[in-house]
Amino acid sequence: MQEITIRRLRIFDRPQVATHFQNLDSDALISRFGIPVPPQNLDSYVDGIFDNAALVFGAFPDACLRGVGELRPTQGRGGRVAEIAITVETPWQDKGIGDALLSRIIAGARNRGIREVHMLCLATNQRMRHLAVKHSADLRLMTGQVEATLTTPWPTPISMVEELAGEYHAFARAILTWPD
Ligand SMILES: CC(C)(COP(=O)(O)OP(=O)(O)OC[C@H]1O[C@@H](n2cnc3c(N)ncnc32)[C@H](O)[C@@H]1OP(=O)(O)O)[C@@H](O)C(=O)NCCC(=O)NCCS
Repeated sequence: MQEITIRRLRIFDRPQVATHFQNLDSDALISRFGIPVPPQNLDSYVDGIFDNAALVFGAFPDACLRGVGELRPTQGRGGRVAEIAITVETPWQDKGIGDALLSRIIAGARNRGIREVHMLCLATNQRMRHLAVKHSADLRLMTGQVEATLTTPWPTPISMVEELAGEYHAFARAILTWPD
């Protein structure tokens, strides 16, 4: 597979984000939201995805958005704690996209002074559990669910420059691969 471009998504990316969520099959939706979600409810979720100071990242393994990572600060925790969620369209799973998104989310959290990120997934979600452990998360088993907690390192000038450089690189690639 060619290089996976990861970049911040903005409100003007909303149509692609809506298509991504509509492309998720029922298993992926249950894994993401913990319950079955009817397709007609996805649009209202997408309407709010850029709210509440969320950082949203997109993965583009080809010219289209195939994976989305969300980082949302937890209210009342002084901006130091956030929740994350990731979705990758089923035909694109097991190709490293979730891993790349998770790395990018952790870097984004780190550079914004977020020291702790939490992720909730079904206990049966072996892929997400594997990725969480790969990124040194502590796992806590609850009824039917697992909460993964990651502690991020302090930001450094280098980590900030790396993030900026990554965004410029992704922007340049987006222009070069813009669909006709
Ligand atoms: C969970 C999810 C985000 C992972 O994305 P992905 O692109 O498939 O992940 P990657 O390809 O980067 O990595 C998958 C890893 O899981 C491993 N894996 C796959 N199946 C596995 C299994 N049954 N048991 C253990 N590990 C497994 C792969 O080998 C890979 O590990 P590696 O990088 O060490 O080789 C994706 O499957 C998804 O969107 N699922 C539906 C939504 C969801 O569950 N979101 C998480 C809760 S918010």
